[in-house]
Amino acid sequence: MPILPEPTEGNTEWFVHDRFGLFIHWGIYAAAARHEWVKNRELISDEDYQKYFDHFYPDLYDPREWARIAKQAGMKYVVITSKHHDGFCLWDSALTDYKATNTPIGRDLLKPFVEAFRDEGLKVGFYHSLLDWHHPEFPVDGLHPMREDEVFKAASQGRDIAKYRQYLHGQTRELLTQFGKLDIMWFDFSYSHLNWGWSTGKGKEDWGSEALLQMTRELQPDVILNDRLEIGGDIRTPEQYQPAGWMQVDGKPVVWEACQTLNGSWGYDRDNLDWKPTVMLVRMLIDSVSKGGNMLLNVGPTGRGEIEPDAVERLQEIGAWMRLHGRAIYGCTASDFTPPQDCRYTQNGDRLYLHLFAWPFRHVHLEGLAGKVAYAQLLNDASEVQMLEIDPDAAAQTVHMSGKEGVLTLELPVQKPDVVVPVVELFLKPGA
Ligand code: GLC
Repeated sequence: MPILPEPTEGNTEWFVHDRFGLFIHWGIYAAAARHEWVKNRELISDEDYQKYFDHFYPDLYDPREWARIAKQAGMKYVVITSKHHDGFCLWDSALTDYKATNTPIGRDLLKPFVEAFRDEGLKVGFYHSLLDWHHPEFPVDGLHPMREDEVFKAASQGRDIAKYRQYLHGQTRELLTQFGKLDIMWFDFSYSHLNWGWSTGKGKEDWGSEALLQMTRELQPDVILNDRLEIGGDIRTPEQYQPAGWMQVDGKPVVWEACQTLNGSWGYDRDNLDWKPTVMLVRMLIDSVSKGGNMLLNVGPTGRGEIEPDAVERLQEIGAWMRLHGRAIYGCTASDFTPPQDCRYTQNGDRLYLHLFAWPFRHVHLEGLAGKVAYAQLLNDASEVQMLEIDPDAAAQTVHMSGKEGVLTLELPVQKPDVVVPVVELFLKPGA
C-alpha cells in the first residue's frame, strides 16, 4: 500500500500530482544583484536603498517568456514574491507607494505575470513576506537593517506592530481578491524563537496568523497555505536541503515541498557562480518525489527582467529530461519497495520507476521484486530491459549471481543511455 499523507484543508490533490514548480524571487534587490537579503546583510538604510527603487527599469520583462521557460522545464506551478522582506511590492497596492508602479518602469508587474502563467496552464501562487524592512510601523528587531543604528532605534521606539499588522492583512486581502483564483499562498516567515536581548523575533501574535489564515481560507477556500505562519498549514517547506525521508508531523506523513535554489541565492546574485549541475538538480527532484514530496526550484531574474542564461540553460536541460521521464515524476510518490544502492524508486500504481544515480556494469539487483514484474524497459527509449531470476543455489560461475532469494536482476546495456538520469520502468504484476 502506498503511503498517503495526512489530509489538508487546502486542495493539495493537484499539488501532490504535479510535483514540480518554479519559485521566483524578484524585486528591486535584483538591481543590487547581491542576494535578496542585501539590505539586512549590509545594514542599508532606506535612504541608501532608494537608489534601487529609483533605477528599477526591467525593460526586457516578458512574463510570457518566463512562463514558456517554466512550462518547457516541466514545471506545473509557479510561486512569485509579491513582496519580499525589503517591503517592495510588485503589484499596484492601494496601501503603499513602495511599489513597481512608482519606479521608472511605471506599471504593475504582477497582473501580467499571473495572466501569462495561467495562459500557459500553470497554477499560480504568491510568496508574501511577513517581515517588512521598509514599513514605518514595523518594529526594529535583530534582523532589521537598522539594528545597529542606535539613533534610528531610539527614534523608532513608538512603532506599532498593530498598525503594521493591519497593513499586512490589508495587502493580503488585495492579493487574495484582485488576481482571481489563487492556488498557493506562501507566507514567509516566523522567528519568534529568536531573542537579541534588546528585541525578540516575531511570530504568530505579531502577524495575527489565525486571522490571516481564516481570511485566506474564506477568500480562497482551495488555496494551499504553507507552514510559516507558526500555526501549521497545508504543506511543510524544507529549505535548501533534502529531507532524509518522507516528512512527518506527530509521526504522520504530511504533504511537503523542498524549496531549492540554482546557486544558493534566491534573488539575483551576479557574482555567485555556485551553480548546481543539472544532474544534481534532476536528482534532487527525483529524491523529493521518492520521499513523497515536491520540489520548488527558484530563479532570481535580473534587474532588466530576464532569467539569466545559466539558469535558462539548466531549466532547458531539466526540461529535456522531463520530456522523456515525466511519467516517473507526475502522479508518482514513494514506493514501499527498497531501492538498491545509488538508486531511487518512484511509483504510480502498478508502474515502478527505478532511477539510477550511478550506472552499474550490466546488472542491477532488485530485492523483493522476483516474480512481481511483468515487463521492464528503459524509459527514455522504451527499449526492453531483460529480467533474470537467479537460483540462489546455482554455482557462482556467472557474473549475474545475485545470491539472494526474491531478487530480480535487470540486464542493462554497458553504455549508459544519454540522459542525465536513466530510468527503468517496471510494470508490476497485479497484486505485486
Ligand atoms: C527565507 C528567506 C528568503 C527566501 C525564503 C525561501 O526564509 O528569508 O530570503 O525567500 O526563505 O524559502
